[in-house]
Amino acid sequence: AQSNRIETLIAKMTPQEKAGQLSCFSDQIRPIGVPFNPGLASGGANEQLAKIRTGAIGMLFNGVGYAGAKAAQDAALQTRLKIPLIFAGDVIHGLRTAYPLPIAEACAFDPDLAMRTARAAALESTALGIHWTFAPMVDVARDQRWGRVAEGSGEDPYLGTLLGVARVKGFQGDNLKDATRVAACAKHFAAYGAVSGGMEYNYTEISPSTLHEVHLAPFRAAVDAGVATLMSAFNDIDGVPASGNRWLMTDLLRGQWKFGGMVVGDYTADEELIAHGYAKDGRDAAKKAFLAGMDMAMQSNLFNLWLPDLVEKGEVPVARLDEGVRRVLHLKERVGLFDNPYRSVSQKAERTSVATPAMLKLSREAGARSIVLLKNDGNVLPLAKTARIALVGPFAEDTDNVVGTWAFMADKALNVSIAAGLRNRKANVTVVKGSDVEAAIPGGIDAAVAAARAADVVLLAIGETQLMSGEAQARVEITVPPAQMALAEAIAATGKPVVVLLRHGRALALEGAVKAAPAILATWFLGSESGNAIADVLFGDVNPSAKLSASFPVFSGQEPYFYNHKITGRPQPDGPLSEYKARYRETRNEALYPFGHGLSYTGFAVSNVVVPAQMNDRLEVTATVANTGSRAGDEVVQLYIHDVVASHTRPIRELKGFQRVSLAPGQSKQVRFTLTREDLRFWMDGKWVVEPGTFHVWVATSSVGGEQKQFELV
Ligand code: IFM
Repeated sequence: AQSNRIETLIAKMTPQEKAGQLSCFSDQIRPIGVPFNPGLASGGANEQLAKIRTGAIGMLFNGVGYAGAKAAQDAALQTRLKIPLIFAGDVIHGLRTAYPLPIAEACAFDPDLAMRTARAAALESTALGIHWTFAPMVDVARDQRWGRVAEGSGEDPYLGTLLGVARVKGFQGDNLKDATRVAACAKHFAAYGAVSGGMEYNYTEISPSTLHEVHLAPFRAAVDAGVATLMSAFNDIDGVPASGNRWLMTDLLRGQWKFGGMVVGDYTADEELIAHGYAKDGRDAAKKAFLAGMDMAMQSNLFNLWLPDLVEKGEVPVARLDEGVRRVLHLKERVGLFDNPYRSVSQKAERTSVATPAMLKLSREAGARSIVLLKNDGNVLPLAKTARIALVGPFAEDTDNVVGTWAFMADKALNVSIAAGLRNRKANVTVVKGSDVEAAIPGGIDAAVAAARAADVVLLAIGETQLMSGEAQARVEITVPPAQMALAEAIAATGKPVVVLLRHGRALALEGAVKAAPAILATWFLGSESGNAIADVLFGDVNPSAKLSASFPVFSGQEPYFYNHKITGRPQPDGPLSEYKARYRETRNEALYPFGHGLSYTGFAVSNVVVPAQMNDRLEVTATVANTGSRAGDEVVQLYIHDVVASHTRPIRELKGFQRVSLAPGQSKQVRFTLTREDLRFWMDGKWVVEPGTFHVWVATSSVGGEQKQFELV
């Protein structure tokens, strides 16, 4: 009956009405001032309402709130066929309530947490009139110069895949008709995370095996998990822009993966086929993007402008036009808009289901669980409750740089600064800014040094603003800016113990006094409750247990740096640096803090790693993990493999499993991992292969170290 409704509608629609359903625009009725699209807006509110009444808009995105949504939907229901609008939004890590930036939340190595924050974000989104989120971003990003590393789950495809799937489930649940759920969108299809040199919007150069094993893997899993939509990417793949790539969006996605949902193009990505040199004008761009498999064009208006003409001239088959419309209408039907066009448009929900105590509690929990203790020499942390603290740095009191990128609809009034988090606990704290992020403050360093001298411990809150990562924010040096380094050096010279509280949307290359500080916490952008979450960890109420989702290189120049790189024919041996072996003049190619690294206030030991000698279809690996310290804590035990001899060169290590284990002091538990043949496969000559032979195995607490064991795949 439901598809009959859609088919009946399609039969009645004119080509122009069909093109309207395939066109979407940023919301001008409830504009939120998104910084990246000045000048591209589709006119003011009245103009947009008029356009909706002509049937030229199928979806609006990035508007929030009851009144505008009601007006827009009223306008849509005045069209000839009364097809409701669907409202979308970039709910990447929360809406009004912000949760940790995805690269941070990935450090929790906790798919259940990712599912819970996505679920909470869906609740809040639907209370504010959003039916569809442009998340999760599942681009695997291995170059920390790229600003959008912030929005993904880090450098590892295995972790990124599990977290992507968890978020899809958290957003969508089992039934999209549930009015507290939102349709998800795996983006950006595909390989946006592989932009050359980490430069935003750049081309890519990717081998087929890396494309399939690394960049496509999370998308495939999201499709298998039932993600409702995908968003096509800005970059090219092997010379063909992703948003005009028929192999990608049709042959692979539809033919092989059997994806039945719809594909929305990224913002003007169809029109950008012209700048790519892949289409000669708007008409050609619309034709190429649509025939390749983009179902809905974002903001360009090219589908409205050209699809009717292209169909009339026989250059686009009517069947393809109907297919695109069917997918869009099916999405509207799946979220229940034909049954209730005013779904998720409720004045009451807006009052009762936004920034609830439960959401803020979850934000704080997720924040604390995402903080990585990189270093803790001499057990500077946790702080004594009575410690005299000097909190120094541009992020000490700051509430503008708390939630991070892609949370532009977050309620700033909720943001808890570090200083507020400490004061909330009645800590003995003196706050001095000392420096701006990128410029010195006259007398700032002197004031900070004076405060440091009078304190027992200095908390140095330094790093990047939230505008230094995210879209269009690639950096050539991923370091702490010089003005803040000057502050750090002066503070270090006081001889007081320093705890660095890094604020950042990417892994950084730490230098000088920051690198040398006895304690360093990677606190990223943790969301609304940031300051409270940081205080929870500083005082030991939460024992840190997060692990890096992205490696911290020693130098910016090592980027792209990722732990699961290939070996080379001249690997650098252990011990002193050898000249004619793979290395840089300045360093062996190792991380300062590798993927998977993260300390605790207690200690853990992994022992009794048992790996059977042979594997047929499955292999069970067991190990014992013990809490060797004096506090309760969690350890994330990680399983890595390496294929020793294969017909394709293989990464030095690949994560294939992890488990979070909670242990009381002195307690130990057995962990058990199961490897299947799928875990051992690789992409070669256009297909997945599994080759018999020797595999090395490590059960470890980071991507480096652990005792090497092995098995034979027979
Ligand atoms: O969803 C985003 C995308 O990630 C980047 N370009 C704009 C889209 C809509 O805001």
